Amino acid sequence: MNLSRRTLLSALAAVSAVRSVQAKPIVDLGAIGHEHGLMFGSAFDREIFRDDAYRALISANCRIGSIENSLKFDWLRAKGPVADFAMADRLVTFATDTKIQVRGTGLIWNDWAPDWLKSLSASEIAATLDRHVDETVSRYAGRMQSWDVVNEPFYPPHHTQDGYRKGPWLDSMGKNYIARAFRGAAAADPNARLVLNEAFCEQDDELGRSIRPSLLSLVTELKHAGVKLDAVGFQAHLKPHLPFDDQAFAAYLDRIAATGVDIYITEFDVDDSSLPDDLAVRDRMVAERCTKFLSAVLAVPHVKALICWHLSDRYSWYKSADWYARAVRSFGGDPTRPVRTHLADSALRPKSDWLSVARAMDARPRA
Ligand code: XIL
Repeated sequence: MNLSRRTLLSALAAVSAVRSVQAKPIVDLGAIGHEHGLMFGSAFDREIFRDDAYRALISANCRIGSIENSLKFDWLRAKGPVADFAMADRLVTFATDTKIQVRGTGLIWNDWAPDWLKSLSASEIAATLDRHVDETVSRYAGRMQSWDVVNEPFYPPHHTQDGYRKGPWLDSMGKNYIARAFRGAAAADPNARLVLNEAFCEQDDELGRSIRPSLLSLVTELKHAGVKLDAVGFQAHLKPHLPFDDQAFAAYLDRIAATGVDIYITEFDVDDSSLPDDLAVRDRMVAERCTKFLSAVLAVPHVKALICWHLSDRYSWYKSADWYARAVRSFGGDPTRPVRTHLADSALRPKSDWLSVARAMDARPRA
């Protein structure tokens, strides 16, 4: 497919003409990605079983999908060590039936640990990690495209040694929890691609710049130790109000890739809290930010996946994040205004950032 400017403009005109809720994509993002060596997809979770139109939008556009929450430790094992896999089973089956390659996220994450885990001794926490990784990964062995085995290893504001994120896994095992989780996952499913997923690196502020070298050292260390690490994931929840230097970030991705891993963009969306209330202005600014970021990042050949953290404002995670409304207010915006953080609006109509993504993928060389 070659998306000429005219095709895209007429698609955009069609987008604005659409009135009713419609699931059929104007431009099939999954197909465009596929033609250009990129797995395109989105996060989704239990809402797809009650929202037919959203399920259709996901099915029509995603070649790959991340289970947003239902495989996270605190969702699987909310009350104690025994897991409830019922929803995760349904989601994996849905993805398999729909021919969406499916990913598990947040297998081990120091955030959102339930209280019962925090009350265990260090050796019990280590045993819990082994059991959780083995039980969860082996249950879906052969069916998962990849796992984010460890999520967000670094958070320098926690002031731990080397900037690691604090939480029960780090506190009980030190940074060895990371290699341990990867080894467990590789044994439980030799076919799944194993991913280390990190936040903030795309920001050119103090936080982003301080995580980058630590993450590169960790990846290098894991590879030297013979740990199976197939890809590094970068969340890319873009924040237009923070400094960014997309070319510098792309150059950093090259350095990560040189260690012998692929790169996945895992949680793409745009935090619009700092942008004006006016919808047309805000949408244009979101689309511009998408275009700038993706034209730098998708030029890196090792980037193999672009996954949005949902496809529509209807399921934007910003809506339920308490810090988000505060941020809108602090930037002088109306906290009751609709969010415009995702590619389709809350009526599932593609917006101009949908086309930004289509064009940026189309600019990659054909696979
Ligand atoms: C978020 C989910 O989208 C929310 O529904 C949940 O309440 C909290 O987690 N970085 C991550 C994701 O790694 O797992 C987070 O997902 C968003 C930020």
